[in-house]
Order: sequence, then structure tokens, then C-alpha cells
Amino acid sequence: MDSNELRKKYIDFFVSKGHKQISGASLIPENDPTVLFTTAGMHPLVPYLMGAQEHPSGKRLCDYQKCIRTGDIDSVGDPHHLTFFEMLGNWSLGDYFKKEMIAFSYEFLTKELHIDPEKLSVTVFGGDDEVPRDDEAAEAWEKVGIPRERIYFMGREDNWWGPAGTTGPCGPDSEMFIDTGRPKCSPDCKPGCSCGKYFEIWNDVFMQYNKTEDGKFEKLRRPCIDTGMGIERTVAILTGKNSVYDIESFQQIIKEIEKLSGKKYKDDETLDTSIRIIADHIRTSVFILGDQNGIAPSNVGQGYILRRLIRRAVRHGYKLGINDEFLSKLAVVVIDLYKDAYPEIEQNKEFVFDNLSKEEKKFSETLVKGEKEFEKVLPNILKGNDKKIPGRIAFKLYDTYGYPLELTTELAKEHGLVVDKDGFDEAFKKHQELSRSATEGVFKGGLADHSEKTTALHTATHLLHKALAVVLGEYIKQLGSNITAERLRFDFNHDKPLTPEEIKAVEDLVNEQIKKDLPVKVEVMTLEEAKAQGAIAEFNAKYGEKVKVYTVGDFSKEVCGGPHVEHLGTLGHFKIVKEQSSSHGVRRIKAILE
Ligand code: ALA
Repeated sequence: MDSNELRKKYIDFFVSKGHKQISGASLIPENDPTVLFTTAGMHPLVPYLMGAQEHPSGKRLCDYQKCIRTGDIDSVGDPHHLTFFEMLGNWSLGDYFKKEMIAFSYEFLTKELHIDPEKLSVTVFGGDDEVPRDDEAAEAWEKVGIPRERIYFMGREDNWWGPAGTTGPCGPDSEMFIDTGRPKCSPDCKPGCSCGKYFEIWNDVFMQYNKTEDGKFEKLRRPCIDTGMGIERTVAILTGKNSVYDIESFQQIIKEIEKLSGKKYKDDETLDTSIRIIADHIRTSVFILGDQNGIAPSNVGQGYILRRLIRRAVRHGYKLGINDEFLSKLAVVVIDLYKDAYPEIEQNKEFVFDNLSKEEKKFSETLVKGEKEFEKVLPNILKGNDKKIPGRIAFKLYDTYGYPLELTTELAKEHGLVVDKDGFDEAFKKHQELSRSATEGVFKGGLADHSEKTTALHTATHLLHKALAVVLGEYIKQLGSNITAERLRFDFNHDKPLTPEEIKAVEDLVNEQIKKDLPVKVEVMTLEEAKAQGAIAEFNAKYGEKVKVYTVGDFSKEVCGGPHVEHLGTLGHFKIVKEQSSSHGVRRIKAILE
């Protein structure tokens, strides 16, 4: 069983149970300023789980979704953590509920994946002051054949999922575990214990609540099902591996790293850590760069995370003794492994190679200089008593040589030292006008911000897109979009600055439509129909898949998930506040509604 087989088995199973396969979404959430990356399959489906809209493909859905979680980025290097992973999921949007889902889960695990039913344990929500114990789920498990002694009632930390941000759909869940046969680590050892005896394989979430901004749990309009099964982990357990890095796909990446470095995996634990970091980070980097909304390395937002991943991979390559440029060579392997499931990474491979190579070159120079400088100060610090790299030195490495704090911290750790982080922050603050911050402060908590202001700016984004195509030419394509309640941001392909006249023409054209108070209409059709009607459609939908098309009067027509305003009159006055270069051949506009 490899990833391709598992993906197919899962989708085929749920299609046979009346589900429609939908395309996984971009890793870069559009129109959602509150998160950097798509972290779960449910993420793009939040409006439908909330019951605010009907999904064009119906009430039973399934897909595989690329996900990135950066919370554990510093743990990557051990045999278990990944930044990128694939998630299988199926959803009921107000259709079937717990009983049916639990029956599906049991059938898939035992009949399709041939897992011995005796080895299965499950956990269900044990109840608290706010939400009662989930007896319904427990009974459903008993009914399919899991005996009571293998059904564990647990608390909120273990059996509650969501919301993905601070607000949104959430509910009690039920997790499925496989007993690996190892001995219990203690008499209390049970599913959820981290000793490795129980291996979590799947999570069924019973979406019943919406967590509101004031922290309350409101009942959802209709209960929904959301499930998630991590592909890498599941393949590992099904093939008897202890580590996700031992599965077939990772082994191919690791083989290439061995070839490039002349080192062998599983010879030396320190080198293994570097090999795993490179394997993980190159995979994640290829997926960010090769995404349908691909991002280039930069100093803000997703681009900053990408830059960190690439740079860390380069540094570990250096530690393994790789002296030539190597990331693009690994990217070839990654693209080859995943191009069938994710054709976008093959389509965008030039962008992937180009950016990896540029960033690698730039950073290699930085590395050599920064590490030389570090070696110079090291002897004195090792002689001293407090085993600490002073903040001003870490800052000097950063400010003068571009050597990132994360790497200084790693280097320090290798010599049994720590970095005086407060001292670094202080020095950083002093130089704030020179420095750039990582996240611009726009990525607050909370999922899918569908406030009125954000919705209005989303509609304005469609108008801007069309206006740019009219003023500059039909070749204009959206390369990225990000909307907060304050402003919209729009990246597009154009290789020189807009002239003041062009900016004015774009603004005028948008404001003209707003003055006309054009209506915004939504229709559901197949992607082919949408394209035939001339709709702008740049996302990867499958052939025949139903999509939503938003039409603004006779001005613009675009395939999009929404939401949008119903009439342009509510938008106010549109103004471009910034027009700048984003990366080579890409311009970025920031605009507001006043
Ligand atoms: N959304 C749930 C998870 O990520 C299924 O585990």
C-alpha cells in the first residue's frame, strides 16, 4: 500500500457511498486573512459547514487535501513530525450523521484496509459542563462491533475538534486507534498516550457547534460530519513502519539525498535529523511554490515561512557535506512523485526550480559569511560562564550578514549554548526601521472572516481583476489574493510598474461600476460551462465538477467560492493605495474601499 493506492481506495469507497469527489483547495487560503495555510480538509468548506451556503456538489463530499501545519516546525527532524501532509476527508453537509459515519469508518478500516477489528480502539467525548457525553457515538461503535472496553470516554483536550481558528464550526469527535502490539508503557496507557502503543489513524468530527467571538457554543443550523485521515501516517502504519519517513514516497526523496551527499540514512542520528529536515522541507517548499496560488520566498506571511524552509534545508545540506546546488534536484523527485495527484506542481515547475535556485544561491553566500562570523565569536562564549550567545551578537549576525535567528539558535544548540532572545528582541527593536517583521500583524486568530467589510473587498477584487484586464490587456491573471477587513491585496502578472494614468483608469473603471449599483448574481454550473461563458477560471477543478460563478452586471464573470455582496452600491469608493513589485514579473496592488 502506498500513498497513491490509499488515496484511490478512500475516494472510491466514499464515491460508492454516494459522495462526490471535489478538488482539494489551494494551500494558500484565498480571502481568508486569518490563517497562513490550509491546515485541514474542512478549511475550504467552512461556509458550507456553517450552513450559510449550499455546496454546488451536494451534501456528501470527499477529497484529498494538501495541508501545511507550521506549529511544530521546530520538531521537524524527529521521525514523526511533518510540515506538509495530505489529508483524506469526507463530509456530510446536513445529510447523514454519527451512526452512518461510524458505520462507514468501521467498514472502510476493516473491509478496505483489512485492519484486524480486534486491534481497533476508539475514543469518544466524555462530556463536560457545556456539552453532554457522547453516548450516541459510543452506542454506534458498539453496534458495529467495538466492545465497550475498547471505547474510551475522554475530555475536551482529546475529543473535541475545532474551530480551526478562534471562531467557527467545531464539535465532539471520535478518534480511531490501532494497537501496534507494543507493551503498555504504564497501567494507565490508553489511546492518546504518546508512547507509541496506540497509533491514531482517523478522526470523525461531529460538527454541531459554532464557536462565536465571545467564546460561546451555538448550535449549528444543521449538524455536519467532517473527517480527516492523514495519508503519510496511515501508509506508515499499514506497511508496518514506525516512522512516516520510512514510507515509499519519503524513501525516494531520502535516496536522492543520500546520492547527493554520499551519506547513508540510519547510520548516524545527527545526520538522520538533517536528512529528515531536508526531505520534509523540500516537499513542503515544492508544494508552496507549485501551488495554484504559488508564493515566492519573501519576508512576509507565507513567503517568509517558505524562505525559512528553504534556508533551513540549505543549511542542513551544507551539514551533510553537499557542496553543490541541490534543492532543484530534489524538487525533480518530489514533482515526479506527486504530479499525478497534484498536476499543478508539474505545471508550475519552472517557477519552482527558478525560485529554489535563486534562494539557494543567495542563502549559500549568507551562510558561509554568517557561520564564519559565528566561529569567530564562539571560543570566547564557550570560555565564559553563562553559555549564552548575547542578543547583540545574534542581532549582528542577522542584521549585518542576514543570518537568521533560528539558525543562530540551532548553531548555538549544537554547541550546548542558548541565545539571549530578549537581548536580540531589544536590539531588533532599536533597529526596527531597518528590519521587516514576519507576519505584518494581519494574521490574527479566527477562521474564515466573512465580515461585511471583507465580503465587500472580495467583490471589489473581482472588479479590480476585470478592470486590470481592460486597461492593461486580457493576459492579466490573478496570481494571489489576500483580503482583510481593511484592504485587499492582489498579485498579477505584469512586468513593469503601472503608470499614474493606468492606475487612475483602473480606479475609474471600478468606481463607474459601483456607481451603476450593478447586481451580483451567482449560478452553479460545470467548469466547462463556466469557461464557455467566458468566466475567469483559474482554479483547478476536475472535469465536470460543479462550480459557482459570480457575475457582476455585464462587467465581470468569475468562478469563485464567494461570498460576495448582492449589489455594488454598498461598496463605497474604491482606491488603490499601493502598487509595487511583488517578485519578478509580478505586480502587487493594495486597495481599499472608503
Ligand atoms: N478536521 C479534522 C482534523 O483535522 C477532521 O482532524
